[in-house]
Amino acid sequence: MYTRLARRFSLATTSTATFRSHRAMSSQSYNSLVDFGHKHVTHGLGRQIDGIMTKGEGSYVTFGDGRTMLDFTTGIGVTGLGHCHPKVSAAAAKQCMELVHGQCSLAFTGPYLQLIEKLLPVMPDPSLDSFFFWNSGSEAIEAAIKMARTITGKQNIIAMQGGYHGRTFGAMAVTKSKTVYSEGFHPLMPGVFTLPYPYWHQLGVPPSTDPAQISAMCLNQLSLLLSQQTAPRDTAAILIEPLLGEGGYVPAPAAFLRGVRELCDKHGILLIIDEVQSGFGRTGKMFNIEYSGVRPDIMTVAKGLANGFPLSGIISKKEFTDKLSPGSMGGTYAGNAVACAAAVAVADAFKEEKILDNVNARSQELFQALNALKAKSHLANTILDVRGQGLMVAVEFASPSGTGAYDVFTDASVPAKLASRVAKRCHEKGLLILTTSVYEVIRFIPPLNISAADLRKGVAIFAEAVEEVVREG
Ligand SMILES: Cc1ncc(COP(=O)(O)O)c(C=O)c1O
Repeated sequence: MYTRLARRFSLATTSTATFRSHRAMSSQSYNSLVDFGHKHVTHGLGRQIDGIMTKGEGSYVTFGDGRTMLDFTTGIGVTGLGHCHPKVSAAAAKQCMELVHGQCSLAFTGPYLQLIEKLLPVMPDPSLDSFFFWNSGSEAIEAAIKMARTITGKQNIIAMQGGYHGRTFGAMAVTKSKTVYSEGFHPLMPGVFTLPYPYWHQLGVPPSTDPAQISAMCLNQLSLLLSQQTAPRDTAAILIEPLLGEGGYVPAPAAFLRGVRELCDKHGILLIIDEVQSGFGRTGKMFNIEYSGVRPDIMTVAKGLANGFPLSGIISKKEFTDKLSPGSMGGTYAGNAVACAAAVAVADAFKEEKILDNVNARSQELFQALNALKAKSHLANTILDVRGQGLMVAVEFASPSGTGAYDVFTDASVPAKLASRVAKRCHEKGLLILTTSVYEVIRFIPPLNISAADLRKGVAIFAEAVEEVVREG
């Protein structure tokens, strides 16, 4: 049915040429295709928008019903260079005609090695010189956990309250952002301990609290964890997103990350830095960990690495990875040649198009606009926090109920469910935007090369949506 209807209305089937002749479907046929999806796509997938995306170009996505929307989600931080970046797509297409699948356990492929050559000079620490490419962020986390256990000969992993690392079994066990990811799937992988993330709301302190105080509170908890729950001799690694993603877009203070590094060094514990969402220019530096100068022992990357082609990376130092038995890492599709070729083109585009300069310029504008909104007197109680780095930015709203009776930041005077209502209103107005975390948070993850005009346009839609929803109460 899909193919029949899609052909009739020039939706994507197998030919990319259909994109060029794309035209909107009648609403009846479009709706029956959406219904087809509802019937046959697993209920286990959540969905923000009832629709079928048919084309992506730069900062915009078009749906089969003719709607074109400004995309402030980039497929959850993936298409950093915009949809179908011409150089990236061309590099992938070229590789498709040369070698699609050269299995990584058979031999090297050219793009795999070329990618390493491109990444070596941009690593946040020169010690990171040993690479393994897999497909998804979750798989990268699985590999990082396995590596940490083998390298140290120890078992336990400390993960962060609010952290998100994926949905496969090991990654799910270290994911602490929402119970939906593990509810009904227990028992989880054992040997995981949880440390509070330096996030004011989770700690029950005001957003204005000095980061030094927040860092000290969490480092104290880490010392307690190591003396009360998981002894250093049993602890293989501490796993941290340097800028909390799914948990609310909260940058960890540099002092906290440095303190963790010190404790890791003292106790022979590895520090795994998860840059799956915060990496590849997203936060204004190539990797977020550069803000603190902290050296990761293992770093995981994915998402922006290949601008939409499935590719993740687990990077460590040779001295460590030499301890791995050949064959203990791998996977049929790991480090696919087409995905690696796309990633090589991403690395080139970063330099040629001065992507980081754009991120930092647009970031300033975004913060200015959001802080101006927060400063409006009638929104004073409504917007609790504007935070983030680069173009990984969040607005946290107040809530009348919070996460429960003991959430100290509830405010009966503000409307309920602000984040999801504002996001929905933005969708209606043509802006794709996402919520995040158990709190009332909206996240901004626009393309890293977004123009000033498109950024302004998106922020204006957001501000309008906030005003409307607040007025409606
Ligand atoms: C920080 C972080 N780690 C890991 C993952 C899991 O990546 P994937 O969805 O590719 O498995 C994500 C996904 O959002 C993430 O944000």
